[in-house]
Amino acid sequence: MTLRSLTRFSVPLFNRFLLHNKTSVRCYKPRRALMYVPGDDTRKLSKAFKVDVDCIVMDCEDGVAMSRKETARNTIRKLLDNGKPLKPRDYDWAIRVNSVHSGLLEEDLRQVLTAEFLPDTILLPKITTVDHLKYFSDQVNNSIKDEEQINLVMYIEDALAMINLVDLCKSAFELSKTSKFKLTSLIFGSDDFCASIGISRSENASEILYARQKLVVVAKAYGLQAIDMVYIQYKDLEGLKRQSDEGARMGYTGKQVIHPNQVPIVQEAFLPSQKQIEWASAILNAFEEQQKIGKGAFNLEGTMIDMPTVKQAQNIMNLMRSV
Ligand code: COA
Ligand code: MG
Repeated sequence: MTLRSLTRFSVPLFNRFLLHNKTSVRCYKPRRALMYVPGDDTRKLSKAFKVDVDCIVMDCEDGVAMSRKETARNTIRKLLDNGKPLKPRDYDWAIRVNSVHSGLLEEDLRQVLTAEFLPDTILLPKITTVDHLKYFSDQVNNSIKDEEQINLVMYIEDALAMINLVDLCKSAFELSKTSKFKLTSLIFGSDDFCASIGISRSENASEILYARQKLVVVAKAYGLQAIDMVYIQYKDLEGLKRQSDEGARMGYTGKQVIHPNQVPIVQEAFLPSQKQIEWASAILNAFEEQQKIGKGAFNLEGTMIDMPTVKQAQNIMNLMRSV
């Protein structure tokens, strides 16, 4: 059976079921690897568009020195005015602006939102309170045309943000009803988070397990993508694979990367294996049959299958259809 045929069926029935049960399934561009490129580095910027990566993040924030902020902003503005560079497959064209507290955000957003072409997505770092979201929402509403819309990715990277996380998600959804942005993902900013609460990092990251799990649980509760921490030892590809596989097992849908060599390992880790695809297709097939005869829970080769497992199977198929 081909991958295409495996990923096709059951969707209408499944969606009808979810509609009936008031559960929403959100569809996003895949963001398995989000690759940062310093916005002031034209060599790396041109290199980035040759990498087969789901999401390219042109950075204005921590990857850019204070003395180079204006250069980064102007370089990115020029790229935006030229339009999204074409690649063999579609990708997410994103910009990480500076935080609300930095004093740099107003000018960053002015340059980005008034450009000839908008990026697909804005990544907003160091969000801690609902006021930050309101500020962003106002700037977007005042700057972009009525028919346009932009994706928002929120960084959660300190203690206050972590305890306000549910309120932040609720208010982002509330604001987006009357604004021109759509919240798609949460990013776990682990290095800033550690600095904020005085954590000393260890190799297995056990000291940040609570925060890492909380973020993924809240993201999933709101139907959002969850993007895992950066692996900064960028030459250690074995360690990267270990941490990527762990993130995928925890439910994360992607990971931040800082170097092109990290991309294939991360994208592979967040892609379901052939075995998982076959597992998911068998479940969705059986689900379709069992729905016809009115059974919610059923037996498949000795395992009880009900809605949570069916949803897991559908997530796998959704991802395969979009990459
Ligand atoms: N995007 C695009 N190209 C990149 C890149 C990136 N993030 N990182 C490295 N490259 C390119 C280099 O320019 C080089 O290409 P070249 O030989 O044609 O010049 C090639 O990949 C190999 O790079 P390498 O020599 O191994 O790394 P480096 O010493 O040039 O850079 C880092 C190492 C970590 C400084 C660099 O990867 C980087 O700047 N990453 C982003 C850091 C960042 O944004 N941090 C903030 C978010 S956490
Ligand atoms: Mg950060």
